[in-house]
Amino acid sequence: MSIIISPSLLSVDFLELKIELERLNQVDDLWLHLDVMDSHFVPNLTFGEPVLNKIKTVSKHKLDAHFMVTNPDFFIENFKNVGLHNFTFHWEAVTHHDRLIQKIKEFYPSVGISLNPSTPLSAVPHYIWSKVDLVLLMSVNPGFGGQKFIPEIVDKVIELDQIRHANQFNFQIQVDGGINEQNAGYLIQAGANNLVAGSFIFSEPNKNYSERIQKIR
Ligand code: DX5
Ligand code: ZN
Repeated sequence: MSIIISPSLLSVDFLELKIELERLNQVDDLWLHLDVMDSHFVPNLTFGEPVLNKIKTVSKHKLDAHFMVTNPDFFIENFKNVGLHNFTFHWEAVTHHDRLIQKIKEFYPSVGISLNPSTPLSAVPHYIWSKVDLVLLMSVNPGFGGQKFIPEIVDKVIELDQIRHANQFNFQIQVDGGINEQNAGYLIQAGANNLVAGSFIFSEPNKNYSERIQKIR
């Protein structure tokens, strides 16, 4: 599986959103990670469909939406014209997981499930792994950029990679939160193939984001 870096828009200068997106267009093989928060599932509020509709007119990258919301069901049809590539919802937010996965598949090429740091892999029944395209392991508690990486998540990645190999599942393993040039290598060795990074990339003082992305790679 190829390694994908997915810069998280949460850390950009929103007053320069178009220019920031154009800077990212200078780098190839990225996904653009879009953190949709509802101030209910997490204590923070970000952006919704009108903003994402504008983003899609500028960004050349695949749009990777991470819904940190209590009711992901509300967003499936509302966002269908945004052109999202991947739609990830939080396992903890939902009761009818299988039904939601089926519905997301009607509208989006890729469906992801996200697990908070404290949610064990055993919370997900075995048959679900074959139905998803991506599993996002949170390596910080969701809601904010710029938090410290929780190192125990590396073992969770190893465990998930073992499940994937043993059963020949095809899902991507994405890790999100506190990723930088120090921990990226451990995560890739552990089996992750898709890394989200916000503050590490966008804190580059000269806005030379490709340099930070290259460091992660
Ligand atoms: C946190 C978000 C992340 C966040 C990552 O809840 O899901 O995508 O923006 O930012 P950093 O890389 O700064 O931890
Ligand atoms: Zn995220």
